[in-house]
Amino acid sequence: MIIVLLGPPGAGKGTQAKEIEERYAVAHISTGDMFRAATKQEDELGRTVRGYLESGQLVPDDVTSRVVADRIGRPDCQRGFMLDGYPRTIGQAEALDRVLSDRGRRLDAVLYFDVSEETAVERLSGRLTCPACGAGYHKKYMPPTSDGRCDRCGGELTQRADDSPETIRERLRVYARQTEALIAAYEARGILHRIDANRSPSDVTAALVGELDGVADRSRE
Ligand code: AP5
Repeated sequence: MIIVLLGPPGAGKGTQAKEIEERYAVAHISTGDMFRAATKQEDELGRTVRGYLESGQLVPDDVTSRVVADRIGRPDCQRGFMLDGYPRTIGQAEALDRVLSDRGRRLDAVLYFDVSEETAVERLSGRLTCPACGAGYHKKYMPPTSDGRCDRCGGELTQRADDSPETIRERLRVYARQTEALIAAYEARGILHRIDANRSPSDVTAALVGELDGVADRSRE
């Protein structure tokens, strides 16, 4: 099964990706996570992507699609994979179609996380992340049991650098300008599944599972 998680910053894509990864045994490919890891390296990719992430702009399509094409070629993607935060432009969507067709594969479904801007801003403003193990929390909706520490590994929780009010606003503007067009494009292909993502995490998971069980069955046919 090959799926895409599409939706604005703060829609809950990363949170639900962890549930889907476990339940359906598909590899989780997050371009945001890959780029954040790259910013810590002093190599060409790290130097290229740093400024884009800091300002909330998209990394250029050619760089992003090359990184994804390499990742999709790894053995853990053989059984299936989930793209979280890619594609984000029509150019990236076309690049994805090309790379899948070259490999004799196809995109099975796009899960669109439909969420209000107000909810997205509130979620991003309160997000906490564990840099050590990658676990995600929210100050109000998913608080850690002990203040400021990760439940899973005890690491110190931090706020993502691009979750400042100004960069959140810019990321939402970029989403509206460059990514929203993908909703109609995938709807026209008949592979868009719209999920009301304004609800609680468990309700959103249940809605996703309701869609994905059928997608997983069809992808095996
Ligand atoms: P990326 O890391 O992909 O960020 P994003 O798309 O902005 O999405 P987020 O990770 O902010 O939100 P999310 O939907 O995953 O929400 P989450 O589950 O964490 O990209 C970062 C940057 O990398 C981009 O700005 C760009 O520069 C670059 N980049 C990445 N991909 C690229 C591409 N394809 N092309 C070019 N550049 C690219 O949830 C948010 C919070 O809400 C958490 O605190 C969580 O606990 C909480 N929460 C989640 N669900 C719920 C719920 N149902 N109810 C209550 N709280 C909830």
